[in-house]
Amino acid sequence: MKMIAFSVRDDEEPFFREWSTKNNIQVDLIKDPLTDETMDKINGHDAVLALQTGEYPKSLFNKAQSLGIKVFSIRNVGVDNVDLKEASANNIAVTNVPAYSPTAIAEFSVTLLLQLLRKIDNFRKRSEQQDFRWEGNVGQEIHDKTIGVIGTGRIGKAAISIYRGFGAKIVAYDPYPDSKLAAEGIYVDSKEELYQKADIITLHMPASLKDKHMIDAQAISEMKDGVYLINTARGLLIDTAALIDGLKSGKVAGAGLDTYENESPLFNHDLRGKEIKDPLFNELRELENVIVTPHVAFYTDTAVKNMVRLSLNSAKSVIETGTADSIVNAE
Ligand code: NAD
Ligand code: COI
Repeated sequence: MKMIAFSVRDDEEPFFREWSTKNNIQVDLIKDPLTDETMDKINGHDAVLALQTGEYPKSLFNKAQSLGIKVFSIRNVGVDNVDLKEASANNIAVTNVPAYSPTAIAEFSVTLLLQLLRKIDNFRKRSEQQDFRWEGNVGQEIHDKTIGVIGTGRIGKAAISIYRGFGAKIVAYDPYPDSKLAAEGIYVDSKEELYQKADIITLHMPASLKDKHMIDAQAISEMKDGVYLINTARGLLIDTAALIDGLKSGKVAGAGLDTYENESPLFNHDLRGKEIKDPLFNELRELENVIVTPHVAFYTDTAVKNMVRLSLNSAKSVIETGTADSIVNAE
């Protein structure tokens, strides 16, 4: 059995090597992402492991089948950038890592909110100028807020548990409510109801095309004045132009964004000294009441270790037994 992993970072390498030695299975490590240019490297392997936020090559699964690949194993949660139908049509199992560390993302989303509410960036910028005044940066507490959680799966639940520690009130929306949370009475019947009730809205749902720009000008207009928005889910969920309008008018008091709708040419790339030719992104990151991070909510030592090990285990399982618990394109 032979596997190949793409987009391998230095911090992942020791976990790949350790697993490879322990299982006596060759895993070839490629630093580059899986693109049309690098795709030929899959030849001679049984499994492909990948992790990227952008689109994979259109001909990937067709080519993979012709080369005898049995499984395409992604080291992350979201499967929105994988053509699952095409994989199935080519008899290739796709696996993900559904829970490498939901708390990593939940903790990060709360961190973004705290930074916004307590104006940490403003104080840091002032401190750099030896300006240690307080005025103009009065903060707000989570304790007396209503948090609107959209999506109450693994990450949403972890976020709820943290917010409860702050003493906040929770309202939630999910088309598939969790029975235990439902018994506690936290669900509202619609996103619109949540928009009306929440002081802070945090997104923890998957992205599908039907939810593209779910947070648009209309949705924002239905929210409370001075609402805060936190998005560690997927950029596609927010109409960035509408959000910028909301932030400029003060309707939206602040936004913490770990994802952005056109992020793939930007995030996880070193663009120092280069011009960013994305006017929407440039306008967004210029705003004072916005924190943009480059899709790093997941990025903890615990998560990295689990992403590598669990994705390799799934690939091995599919090759050896024909199946794995984490297959996401089972019919
Ligand atoms: P999950 O599958 O455990 O939970 C998702 C929840 O969203 C489910 O309860 C589902 O019923 C609900 N949902 C589906 N459609 C919805 C809709 N239209 N409105 C409201 N709720 C809806 O997934 P998870 O592990 O909690 O992850 C959630 C998302 O977080 C992932 O799909 C991924 O996009 C994102 N994510 C981001 C990072 C990061 O580093 N920023 C890391 C991991 C995951
Ligand atoms: C996910 O696991 O879905 C993420 O968003 C993490 C990212 C590294 C792709």
